[in-house]
Amino acid sequence: MSTRIGLVGLAVMGQNLALNIAEKGFPIAVYNRSPEKVDDTVARAQAEGDLPLVGYKDIQDFVAAIERPRSVIILVKAGKPVDDTIAKLVEHLEPGDLIIDGGNEWFENTERRARQVAERGLLYMGMGVSGGEEGARKGPSMMPGGPQEAWERVAPILQKVAAQVDDGPCVTWIGPGGAGNYVKMIHNGIEYGDMQLIAESYDILKHVGGLSNDELADVFAEWNRGELESFLIEITAQIFRRRDDQGDGWLVDKILDKTGMKGTGRWTVQEAAERSVAAGTMTAALDARYLSGLKDERVAASRLFDDPAPPAGIDKAALVNDVRQALYASKICSYAQGMNLIRATGETFAWGLDLGAIARIWKGGCIIRAVFLDRIKQAYDRDPKLPNLLVDAEFAREIKERQDAWRRVVGLAVASGIATPAFSASLAYFDSYRRARLPANLVQAQRDLFGAHTFERTDREGSFHADWE
Ligand code: 6PG
Repeated sequence: MSTRIGLVGLAVMGQNLALNIAEKGFPIAVYNRSPEKVDDTVARAQAEGDLPLVGYKDIQDFVAAIERPRSVIILVKAGKPVDDTIAKLVEHLEPGDLIIDGGNEWFENTERRARQVAERGLLYMGMGVSGGEEGARKGPSMMPGGPQEAWERVAPILQKVAAQVDDGPCVTWIGPGGAGNYVKMIHNGIEYGDMQLIAESYDILKHVGGLSNDELADVFAEWNRGELESFLIEITAQIFRRRDDQGDGWLVDKILDKTGMKGTGRWTVQEAAERSVAAGTMTAALDARYLSGLKDERVAASRLFDDPAPPAGIDKAALVNDVRQALYASKICSYAQGMNLIRATGETFAWGLDLGAIARIWKGGCIIRAVFLDRIKQAYDRDPKLPNLLVDAEFAREIKERQDAWRRVVGLAVASGIATPAFSASLAYFDSYRRARLPANLVQAQRDLFGAHTFERTDREGSFHADWE
């Protein structure tokens, strides 16, 4: 059988994406370095409805089975395994063939590889794929970047394989070069921010509000019926319902409080620093992961410092209502940071990015999918040059309505000794952005005093240096 497309790398994501492609009616050839995964995938394809998927254990046979010009998706671990896979593939590919890396790859690696394979006449794309195992199988959100002609070749396949929402499939051509990887990296940075904001909501509701796991499950389920409706809120409700099958109580209470990570969120924060874009909420989320990792030190420190006295007279229902609003307002700030970072980098590299289209393809399939993303898309539809989501008329109105609750929550957390770094960073971002005058004048004066770094004045043009003595 001649197949329409090939896929290399049959770990969880690769295997599920291959089955999804086959199920959508595109015959697919698959290959994996260790042959057992090939057998597993072929067996699943048969079991899940005799899907048009053919397994190969020899890379030359695999390449020969794909119709020309060939398109080959690779889904192996980012970094060296991608280079190794490309090195093996290019031995058999022909000019005009296309390689698509679907992993969480650093965007500059994609650009380097595109240049390398171009010497052999090959096309190359870096495509972010989000949605985990289930998304890959049933419909992920996909962020392909690279040559537009490459996108046009695979668009009919990707558009059917992607998650479908009210206004189309959750895939679009992001832009040239490493734009697709870049946008997926920011998606993950935003994912870190969302998860941390939800974790802080939990912390306050549990430790200040005294909510039980059952009550927390109900609260998150209720939130998932309103403005916060999203995959992450939905799974949070599900987590609070889960009993421990290896002991008494709830599983969530038995999980060690140390967050792991693969690192795309760290890249986002590094990039924000590199591009001089404020990204405090995502940075706070990253730092929270680092501090969580110091479990032994934290346990030791907890013996040294007492908790502040708990605030009295907490009204649970009012607290739940406040935290919901604080979470929503904080989320607006976090997304504003992420979108601004995408824009800044897009402008630097002249990627011609469409922020509204990017928000649209995150509406379904991916980890940060949420009804909220439709509001972001609408904001960019209203004004494609919007400098910040905070000044969109709709978001500005929503923030104004929620800011009292937001301040109450952060104040209460501070008084209770509960760290809410992402809530606080979002609020600080808002308060810094919305103020016409900041204390930066003093920092400029200090820089000029000790280093003659000069300053600008509010009342006349030019660059000034004062004799501070
Ligand atoms: C997705 C996820 C996916 C993965 C991250 C988790 O969009 O499907 O973001 O890429 O879950 O690797 O990242 P950490 O391991 O760094 O938390």
